[in-house]
Amino acid sequence: MDVRPVDGAELAPTAERILRALPAWFGIESSLVEYVEDVRRMPTWAAFDAARAIGFVSVRVHFPTSWEVHVLAAEEPHRRGVGRALVGAVERAARDAGARLLHVKTLGPARPNAEYARTRAFYEGVGFLPLEERLDLWAGNPCLFMVKPLD
Ligand SMILES: CC(C)(COP(=O)(O)OP(=O)(O)OC[C@H]1O[C@@H](n2cnc3c(N)ncnc32)[C@H](O)[C@@H]1OP(=O)(O)O)[C@@H](O)C(=O)NCCC(=O)NCCS
Repeated sequence: MDVRPVDGAELAPTAERILRALPAWFGIESSLVEYVEDVRRMPTWAAFDAARAIGFVSVRVHFPTSWEVHVLAAEEPHRRGVGRALVGAVERAARDAGARLLHVKTLGPARPNAEYARTRAFYEGVGFLPLEERLDLWAGNPCLFMVKPLD
């Protein structure tokens, strides 16, 4: 597998294909369309198996010191190391740019959901720590902030 920075506008149709194949996570059409638009303009990395993109991540640089994983997805089957490789690439780029922190917002445990429990297990598995769960940020859904200090 090869992970490299890509042009988000070029990747967008592929990103849409990957997101549409994961309806348990990206089943709300308006959010999916927004994510694809975000991919177009945000710094993005993709994981390739030969010429086929099998995963991608886009980040939002809120401050030079803290980068947010905005959208991250890998084709199924999961747990083949694609997510770890993508987060690793973002970490290296963030460190090289002087960032100290990665963060992510995801569905919190206050709303039990088997798929997002796996998502949180992934983030914990690659070194993110739960910081705060907020019930007032996303209408009807708990939002968990997770952070990963960069050494
Ligand atoms: C989240 C996602 C990108 C992770 O990618 P992945 O390739 O499946 O995950 P990896 O194989 O790189 O997992 C890395 C580590 O995370 C942990 N992990 C991943 N999935 C896990 C699970 N289901 N249960 C427990 N730990 C898990 C493990 O520590 C794993 O390392 P190990 O396999 O060596 O033990 C992918 O599963 C995905 O696209 N999920 C659906 C979309 C999504 O949740 N996106 C994030 C929204 S905020």
